[in-house]
Amino acid sequence: MSGNNISPEIMDKLTKVCLCKAISRATIKKAVENGASTVEEVKKATGATTGGCGGKRCTPKIQQIIDEYKNK
Ligand code: FES
Repeated sequence: MSGNNISPEIMDKLTKVCLCKAISRATIKKAVENGASTVEEVKKATGATTGGCGGKRCTPKIQQIIDEYKNK
């Protein structure tokens, strides 16, 4: 059991934000770092929110990542 040794960077790669499109948190963060400041812009950059659920599951999580980035 070495779960506690996993770095945040690896967790970001393993954690899917948009489950429908299998888009990781690392991908969303990169889009935000590259200038996407709204869910709509992240959508354009990554394709997130365009899956089967219509963004119902991932939109709040994307918004949260954007907010966290802005508050840094
Ligand atoms: S989880 Fe992102 S579109 Fe469904």
